[in-house]
Amino acid sequence: MKKQAGKILIISNRLPIKIERQDEKLVISASEGGLATGLGSIYNKDNNLWIGWPGIVPKDQAEKDFITETLSSLNLIPIFLTEEEIAGYYEGFSNEVLWPISHYSPTYANYNTDNWHCYQTVNQKFADLVQLHCSNEDTVWIHDYQLMLLPHMIRQKKENIAIGYFQHIPFPPDEVFRSIPWRDELLRGILGADLIAFHTFNDTQHFLDACTHILGLSIFNNNLQVSGRTVYVEVYPMGIDFEKFNALSKKKAIKARSREIREHFSNRKIIVSVDRLDYSKGILPRIAAFEDLLLRHPEWKGQVVLYMLVVPSRDTVDQYKRLKDEIDRKVGNINAAYGNNDWTPIVYFYTSYPVEELVALYRAADICLVTSVRDGMNLVSKEYIACKEQTDGVLILSELAGASKELIDAIQINPHSIDQIRDALSQALTMPKEEQHERMAASIALVKKFNIHHWVDLFFTKLKEIKMQQGKDFAR
Ligand code: G6P
Repeated sequence: MKKQAGKILIISNRLPIKIERQDEKLVISASEGGLATGLGSIYNKDNNLWIGWPGIVPKDQAEKDFITETLSSLNLIPIFLTEEEIAGYYEGFSNEVLWPISHYSPTYANYNTDNWHCYQTVNQKFADLVQLHCSNEDTVWIHDYQLMLLPHMIRQKKENIAIGYFQHIPFPPDEVFRSIPWRDELLRGILGADLIAFHTFNDTQHFLDACTHILGLSIFNNNLQVSGRTVYVEVYPMGIDFEKFNALSKKKAIKARSREIREHFSNRKIIVSVDRLDYSKGILPRIAAFEDLLLRHPEWKGQVVLYMLVVPSRDTVDQYKRLKDEIDRKVGNINAAYGNNDWTPIVYFYTSYPVEELVALYRAADICLVTSVRDGMNLVSKEYIACKEQTDGVLILSELAGASKELIDAIQINPHSIDQIRDALSQALTMPKEEQHERMAASIALVKKFNIHHWVDLFFTKLKEIKMQQGKDFAR
């Protein structure tokens, strides 16, 4: 790779680290997230930087200084948010307007003007910090819906800078996006970028529709003309760090842990599901379908467990709190109704696991069940596959998750149909090994090839090409 003229700045709401307060001390740990791994080889080299929220509100200036100093050696620049900003920008606007709208759930949206103003203020706060750290020769890659206004805000100050924007969540049909009172400003915000990309063709098409139907822009060759600039809109499905998951799944200790898990469940069939607590993940229909399996196929009673790992998320937002209560209740009812001394039908944890434990669980599981009612990509489905090279396994995947466009060898279901999920479970539980291996081999080849590094390369190569076309001094 050629040396780049300027530096690269990655910007996202969260930094790729976690900071926790333990016994009055701040403990910083690296995030296991896919984005952090994929961009790891970029942001922590040369003068490159990653700007984002460290996930904690410091008590005082001394804590701020400590965090800033500690992170600077990792090429990370923290942006500090107040409690009010977290409530207005993150919980209120990002997660109570943009999240439900982007996941086709407008009835969950709460349009509060103060939260919109807070979203603008915090995006401007990010823009000011970026401005302090960048020059016209740099390349900025902005991630996700929390920062939709940022591309335009940066463009206003740095006319020639290369800006990329990737949206990790779906982009809804234009008539759904139109519901947001501030949709014009949001679209114009994103359009400050040179390159805008989504996981699927549909998302891209919806975005283009919104730009033409709402803003009246014209499209030429899938690109948009915005105030004399060409803005490129592409489809780049995100991959995972295949090698990391695959290598871990073959480690002796992890194989042993995986056997231990199977033995713990007396070698019953294990159906695994892993998601953040979110209504977009279809956790309730999944539980209902599992119950229906036990009802209509009583031969599976005592023979199968649904191992449900729900990772705590946004539990200060109302809908999430309510969902958590509903899950707790449903799981409790099913276990009370069907379980016995020797068998708990649903094994449910509300926590997060270290990656090693997750890999052991994926390896142990006969089936991975993904029932998202809307999902940008769904990386869990890809992680499960990456851990399955030498073992059996079946992926049941919602056709409403972005990953379904690539993982065509999975059993695909409509997550709103309890019947389809139940039948898919029954099909997976009885699938001959040969068929499991055939389907899995095809999926493995795909996940291996279109991995996270491939995704990062695609994005940067296109951005570089665009800037070269624009005659800018940009080389990576
Ligand atoms: C989704 C979003 C990310 C977000 C993540 C975790 O994957 O696309 O932008 O960071 O969820 O959500 P949280 O609200 O905890 O950052």
